[in-house]
Amino acid sequence: MDEHQPSILSDHVDARIVTGDLDEVIADRNAIVQLDPDHPGFRDPEYRRRRNQIAQIAMNYHPGDPIPDAPYTDLEHQVWSVIWRALRPAHQQHACAEYLKAIEQLNFSDDRIPQLREVNERVRAISGFRLEPVAGLVQPRVFLENLADGVFLCTQYIRHHSTPLYTPEPDVVHEIVGHGVTLACPQLAELNRLFGEAVKRTTSADKLEQLSRVYWFTIEFGVLRQNGSIKAYGTGLLSSAGEMEEMHKADLRRLDLAAASNEKYDPTHFQPVLFCADSFDDLYQRLREFLVNW
Ligand SMILES: [Fe+2]
Repeated sequence: MDEHQPSILSDHVDARIVTGDLDEVIADRNAIVQLDPDHPGFRDPEYRRRRNQIAQIAMNYHPGDPIPDAPYTDLEHQVWSVIWRALRPAHQQHACAEYLKAIEQLNFSDDRIPQLREVNERVRAISGFRLEPVAGLVQPRVFLENLADGVFLCTQYIRHHSTPLYTPEPDVVHEIVGHGVTLACPQLAELNRLFGEAVKRTTSADKLEQLSRVYWFTIEFGVLRQNGSIKAYGTGLLSSAGEMEEMHKADLRRLDLAAASNEKYDPTHFQPVLFCADSFDDLYQRLREFLVNW
């Protein structure tokens, strides 16, 4: 296993927004189920078979039904274990206190991928949010609007075993260790809901892109000051030990949501610019007000 790959990922809101009339944005939750030729699993027929098998669960899923367990292999559980061993010390060092509290409450196993069903039982009890399986990336508008209803559209497959610390797309590790945990923090769950409601009120493609950027620079890659240190609350950071190390080298700018809405980003590199709130409460209050008034 190559553990020296950069730990970067593209994500739900990485600006791959469909151009043209927003009315034509595809509302299909499972529009994208394919691997690029440079995907680590592209030449592994067994991995592609597994991806299709797990995607099928999402394709057959009806919202609100119990989520079937994904039949992960021992090799896939081992991938979780390798990632978990890298993430645990990184969290202790770089994660904000609210995240550490939430991850303790979820009490994940260190040698087994949690099933979405299990994560939901715990997250719903805390914030009312639930994860629902999707086969792959969905359109940003579809993804964001579901947040208004307390639904996080969630991939269930795990990255290829050859690159345990790298994934070019959100996988179950990013979804659960990043989003699932932060949705078990009531304030962050509320901000996710408010993003969904703001997107529902947004009709122009430009405004949707601005909101997607704010989501990226807060929920996905946000940092804040806590006890004299820079700590992560963003899911893209918290699901990658490499990103958490690199975040201290970024150009840290004081959180300015209007500026974030106009700041372009490249999801294929470590993030060179991050927006830093003065505290968790500063983030919560200012982002809440921004979204309510959107
Ligand atoms: Fe994400």
